[in-house]
Amino acid sequence: MKIMKVDHYEEMSQEAAKLVKEKIKANPKATLGLATGGTPVGMYEQLIKEYKEGSLSFRHVKTINLDEYVGLTAGDENSYRAYMNNLFFKHIDIPNESTFLPNGDADDLQKECEYYEETIKSIGGVDLQILGIGGNGHIAFNEPGTPFTSRTHVVKLASATREANARYFDDEEDVPEYAVTMGIETILESKEIVLLASGENKAEALRELVEGEKDEANPSTALQGHPNLTIIADRQACKKLGEQSFTKEQ
Ligand code: F6R
Repeated sequence: MKIMKVDHYEEMSQEAAKLVKEKIKANPKATLGLATGGTPVGMYEQLIKEYKEGSLSFRHVKTINLDEYVGLTAGDENSYRAYMNNLFFKHIDIPNESTFLPNGDADDLQKECEYYEETIKSIGGVDLQILGIGGNGHIAFNEPGTPFTSRTHVVKLASATREANARYFDDEEDVPEYAVTMGIETILESKEIVLLASGENKAEALRELVEGEKDEANPSTALQGHPNLTIIADRQACKKLGEQSFTKEQ
């Protein structure tokens, strides 16, 4: 595990975009695992800028997202498909058919989960997975108590997660109760993982990920054993980490 402590959100976003860019330069056909939420927005903005400046192309890249709400159609403005289209895909040169998200509106969600696992395999697995972290330690929508052996599955969202995500909806009651999410084991199979954390509200979750016991009560601790994990976190998010946790200070 490598921890890169940066000053603020903008620097976190720039460092993350730099790693994505390096990955695509090394392998223009790379598969990127992508996240939604507030954390990666700045990274997407930075990548769009690189594309517009002509220094980066996504033409041969494939993307696969971590999760999607159950019951929202792709056209719903609160779906993660809409988030990805609006904040990233429509601004770059990636072909639509190279971008994958679970279909949270599928009639048979169990089949959809199996199909998603097959999709990940068929595109050669994830080369670089971007993750955020929930205040309760969730990664993707794997809430506390999810087995570390889980594959893509339907999950009931924790009330803390619905509360945190209510900011995107008119009303907290409108936040879907369920989501389809990549499982923890699925995520751990990514060749490289970059977890982003910004803000004091992530400090305790980050402390547990870095310094806590590996425990299914805290999903992010599953990452402790990953052979190629980089955490990029700003000062606020690093507030509760002891000095011994840093391999690189900036
Ligand atoms: C998003 C996802 C979630 C978020 C997490 C943090 O696809 O899987 O795990 O990364 O909820 O969300 P933000 O970034 O909004 O704090």
